[in-house]
Amino acid sequence: MSDTSVPAEERDGLIEVPVGAGLWECVFMVAPLVIVGTKEADGWDFAPKHMAMPLGWEGLYCFACTPRHATYRNVQSHPQFTVSFPRPEQIVESSFAAGGRYEGDVKPALAAVPTAAARVVDGRVVAGCPLYLECELERIVDGFGSASLIVGRVGAAYAAREALRGSEVDDADLVHRLGLLAYLPPGRFAVVRESLSFPYPEDFRQ
Ligand SMILES: Cc1cc2nc3c(=O)[nH]c(=O)nc-3n(C[C@H](O)[C@H](O)[C@H](O)COP(=O)(O)O)c2cc1C
Repeated sequence: MSDTSVPAEERDGLIEVPVGAGLWECVFMVAPLVIVGTKEADGWDFAPKHMAMPLGWEGLYCFACTPRHATYRNVQSHPQFTVSFPRPEQIVESSFAAGGRYEGDVKPALAAVPTAAARVVDGRVVAGCPLYLECELERIVDGFGSASLIVGRVGAAYAAREALRGSEVDDADLVHRLGLLAYLPPGRFAVVRESLSFPYPEDFRQ
């Protein structure tokens, strides 16, 4: 860790932390972890993303990327991508997807990631995940420092039966049985099995 751990002023029991890139090294947060799949030349690429989420309520999904990553360039030249939501047991595959590039710009660790054909886009997904999205590129928004936002319109979504909510399935049991993978930046992960109903206010409206 950098010198971001050096406490600055302490006031009211709170220590000021530096703003900027170092901020995210000072504390843990809870994030999703997905594997974005793109078409790359005659093959494909996968890359883990934790800055990823549904964008609004009308079938858009987005993730933060950077022009330095092949994923960004791949989406530019082939405007589709897949999103695979790995199980906790797939944490190593998720890590392989971030493996280094070597001669010929190949990412050899990808060979250890089992894949399956996507259903509606020209691409692949990571095999064995509980949930998948297939997206058409809606737009790329550049200019957030070195980051860009890649937004896709979800054209197909499919889930393993045991991951689907239903009237005959208790939500808490489902989460417990399945175990949800959470990324805890920087550099940790967790398996979420314990969950509680959110205590919405009685007059809550979406
Ligand atoms: C756990 C984890 C989460 C990551 N999250 C993101 C992210 O949200 N956005 C991003 O641009 N890169 C993220 N990365 C880094 C890239 O996905 C990674 O460097 C990848 O190898 C880039 O591959 P590419 O050049 O084939 O696109 C993450 C890496 C890891 C290991």
